[in-house]
Amino acid sequence: MIIRELSVDDLDACLRLAADREWSREERKWLFLLQGGEGYGVVDPEGELVATAILTRYGGRTAAISMVLVASRHGRQGLGGRLMSHVLDRARGATVFLNATETGRPLYERLGFQVASPAAMHLGTFTAKASGASRVASPQDLKAIADLDAEVIGADRSDLLRRFSDFAEQVRVIEDGRTITGYAGMWRNVSNTVIGPVIAADETDARRLIADLASQVDGPVRVEVQSERRELAEWLTGHGVAPGMRTSDMVVGGEPLPGDRSRFFAPVMSALG
Ligand SMILES: CC(C)(COP(=O)(O)OP(=O)(O)OC[C@H]1O[C@@H](n2cnc3c(N)ncnc32)[C@H](O)[C@@H]1OP(=O)(O)O)[C@@H](O)C(=O)NCCC(=O)NCCS
Repeated sequence: MIIRELSVDDLDACLRLAADREWSREERKWLFLLQGGEGYGVVDPEGELVATAILTRYGGRTAAISMVLVASRHGRQGLGGRLMSHVLDRARGATVFLNATETGRPLYERLGFQVASPAAMHLGTFTAKASGASRVASPQDLKAIADLDAEVIGADRSDLLRRFSDFAEQVRVIEDGRTITGYAGMWRNVSNTVIGPVIAADETDARRLIADLASQVDGPVRVEVQSERRELAEWLTGHGVAPGMRTSDMVVGGEPLPGDRSRFFAPVMSALG
């Protein structure tokens, strides 16, 4: 078994591996992550991809790990641990975060990750009306969006946000008359539309942005909400978007995540924070 870097040419093999673990065929998401991050895979002696993980760096200080998968026939043989250790070595001292399923959590705990916040994937058809307080972002807004995002996330994600503006169905901004104080996006996944990221000055604006996006969606929307956002979770639940799968946002590396997290309401996707 060897560990090697993955490229977009490995997309089909990644999707086969995901199907083996009954993950849905999230083709666009894999592609977005492989294009913007560093994919690592374990290949068996026959050349078959049997494990994956994707590292996305935010400057030198923080990084996210996602798409951690081991083929079921190779499970519980140490492959997941070996691949994660390799990827953590590559992260070279950055604070590394990830969103763990209940299945993945013991593996990450063994590697020193700690739960920063429990979270829940809310899913359902949104029933409230648009607020009308936000507007569709234009290409000229990208700089202001990236500056705001950097304050909240503590890293320059302008490359990611540039790619996200093509990937997303829509990005909206909210202003205080002078500057952009919040932004949010939504993107199509296999069977739902993910609302994220959501960055706003306060919860009222976060709700406005979510409402202005989600009210356009015909079908289920999905939003990842951290458990300390109890009021936001209740508001979503009251408008048809109820909590489903429980997950944990986890961190390793000593330092808490940088930035001003009081304005962070939802990740771009659980893979990216
Ligand atoms: C989560 C996942 C990646 C773990 O991969 P893995 O290769 O099975 O992980 P490891 O083998 O390193 O560790 C799993 C268990 O096997 C045990 N194990 C490792 N080597 C072993 C060996 N040689 N003999 C017996 N047990 C062994 C580990 O101690 C661990 O036990 P524990 O869960 O009771 O603590 C894998 O189960 C998976 O792909 N699940 C589906 C997708 C998923 O949920 N991914 C996580 C997303 S956040």
